[in-house]
Amino acid sequence: MSYFYFLVLYATILIPAQSLGDICLPKEHVPLFVFGDSAFDAGNNNYINTTIDLQVNFWPYGESFFKYPTGRASNGRLIPDFIAEYANLPPIPPYLHPGYSRYIDGVNFASAGSGALVETRRGLVIDLHTQLSYFKNIKTMLRQEIGEKEAKALLVKAVYLLSVGINDYAVPFITNSSVLQSHSQEEYVNMVIGNLTTVIKEMYKTGGRKFVFLGLPPLGCVPRLKALIPVKTSAICKDKLNALVQLHNKVLSKVLPKLESQLKGFKYSIAHLYTFLSERIDNPSKFGFKEGKSACCGIGPFRGIPSCGGKGSVKGYKLCENVTDHVFFDSAHPTEKVYQQFADLIWSGTPDIIGPYNLKAFFEV
Ligand SMILES: *[C@@H]1O[C@H](CO)[C@@H](O)[C@H](O)[C@H]1NC(C)=O
Ligand SMILES: *[C@@H]1O[C@H](CO)[C@@H](O)[C@H](O)[C@H]1NC(C)=O
Ligand SMILES: *[C@@H]1O[C@H](CO)[C@@H](O)[C@H](O)[C@H]1NC(C)=O
Ligand SMILES: *[C@@H]1O[C@H](CO)[C@@H](O)[C@H](O)[C@H]1NC(C)=O
Repeated sequence: MSYFYFLVLYATILIPAQSLGDICLPKEHVPLFVFGDSAFDAGNNNYINTTIDLQVNFWPYGESFFKYPTGRASNGRLIPDFIAEYANLPPIPPYLHPGYSRYIDGVNFASAGSGALVETRRGLVIDLHTQLSYFKNIKTMLRQEIGEKEAKALLVKAVYLLSVGINDYAVPFITNSSVLQSHSQEEYVNMVIGNLTTVIKEMYKTGGRKFVFLGLPPLGCVPRLKALIPVKTSAICKDKLNALVQLHNKVLSKVLPKLESQLKGFKYSIAHLYTFLSERIDNPSKFGFKEGKSACCGIGPFRGIPSCGGKGSVKGYKLCENVTDHVFFDSAHPTEKVYQQFADLIWSGTPDIIGPYNLKAFFEV
């Protein structure tokens, strides 16, 4: 019985992979590779040795769409899920998901809590440099499966979606680390973007050409950061942190055109999350929400103490009745509705929300 089961499993995993050699991929088949943090992690952290604070594979995460927790830090789908759907791709599974081998559609390497710096939650996440090494493994596997030429063409056509930097700035604030006192804002931002640039250049060498960056959100306004200081003062957003992420966004928007002029065929786009999210936090009703400042799930001021699901050190938490009223699902992550609105805009939007290219243009070969 168990032998039979093993054979069936073996067959379902290996046969599709081996027969890929015979598949002639249509020209318009454009894969999606996803890198970064919890904005994009579709479940990689379920499979690593980390702390419960960096995992979300328990209820009520996933409650609205999947009806079970997948490891996505929201009540439902994330931006890459919508983009994959609009691009007519199947959902892009996490790299560490056991048994997954259909790499011709793309892979998701993102890991909640990670940043561009290896110091950011070192040992608890898959940092960006490690995500890059996983991507290089995929290239090797693709070559074996579909041949050198086809693999190269696939990686050149692919779209690379990155959400990097949020944790590099948020973690030092949350942990009151001295790293922000020992560096000037400019130095620190240059270090984060320097490491990001190193990885982008390696991705380019590996074959990547079309890169889409999620601009950093107004981090100082997320419930978790606002809950760090007493209620009275946290009525306003943390300006220092917002200034830092805005500087990051500004430097990134200068570095990318430079890369474009240095690297032949390199194309990029930036999805402007900062203004999009600020507008919804400040004027929720204008965009179909009722509550912009307090999270749906959590406890304390703005429900900003991370306790959603009650599996971490803080057990008590509250859950809102109607999640579609909220901009934030938990202390740090937007609701599926916010992600869907953003995904819709960056799919076919104009330069005020995404530029120089929108995603639709990137998926057209
Ligand atoms: C997982 O992490 C814990 C604490 O960080 C450590 O004690 C344990 O040895 C680790 N396990 C593995 C398999 O690495
Ligand atoms: C943060 O650290 C600084 C010194 O690095 C200290 O003066 C300050 O009191 C700390 N703040 C909190 C909230 O712990
Ligand atoms: C990358 O980050 C490390 C700290 O993790 C820093 O020492 C190094 O200078 C950074 N690299 C670049 C190119 O900025
Ligand atoms: C939840 O809120 C949305 C928008 O405010 C509304 O359309 C919907 O009917 C509400 N659902 C429930 C169960 O109250």
